Amino acid sequence: MAAQLIVALDLPRKEDALVLARELQGAVPWCKVGMELFTLAGPDIIRELHDLGFHVFLDMKFYDIPHTVAQAVKAAAAAGAELLTLHCQGGERMCSEARIAADSYGSKAPRLFGVTALTSFGPGEMPGISADPSDFALELAGKARGWGLDGVVCSGHEAARIKASCQGLRCLCPGIRPAGADTDDQQRIMTPARAVQAGADFLVVGRPILKAPSPAGAARAIQAEMQAAV
Ligand code: C5P
Repeated sequence: MAAQLIVALDLPRKEDALVLARELQGAVPWCKVGMELFTLAGPDIIRELHDLGFHVFLDMKFYDIPHTVAQAVKAAAAAGAELLTLHCQGGERMCSEARIAADSYGSKAPRLFGVTALTSFGPGEMPGISADPSDFALELAGKARGWGLDGVVCSGHEAARIKASCQGLRCLCPGIRPAGADTDDQQRIMTPARAVQAGADFLVVGRPILKAPSPAGAARAIQAEMQAAV
């Protein structure tokens, strides 16, 4: 499967998110609803994005006791999320119960992706973890696969190693920055082309698109770079 672009609708007003979604309609396959938009707009935004023809990635990064996460996964599945995130650091019981909860939705089961090390972390910044973020991400990916998750969220720098050592596990990569773009708060960044070449299955991009003079043009340029890199 060719890598797919997910546009993060990280905007402070639901109306602005829908205006952008309409501009991207038909051009981009996926939108991401994250903490900001979900908190503003509630689960209806998932249905509204489906109605515009998008697949919806719900990025709430669940991290809680197993029962609470399992119930949240069911709520997300019922709302129509097709792919969602939970923290690998929630551990085996949390992830396994999330898997069972997702699978109870049968053909509508959302894909579960485990967050490894946030792409905003550089070496030595993760509280209580002395390992390099990339090594830590690889270690968590191995566990995530054993716990039945479909994929992991990692930087492009880890994608090739994860794909090589965890067969079948998908990689969803944030921290994507076209050459010369602002890095913002991200540290483990990579260009769209290099992330695709490293084996990323999904690229999630927010500010390089949201802050561009023409967000739809920026999204198209990123997709063109992705296609040319294959
Ligand atoms: O604006 P930018 O392209 O940096 O946005 C990246 C998106 O990916 C944000 O919506 C952020 O929440 C998300 N993300 C991330 N790092 C992770 C997981 C998700 O940056 N590990």
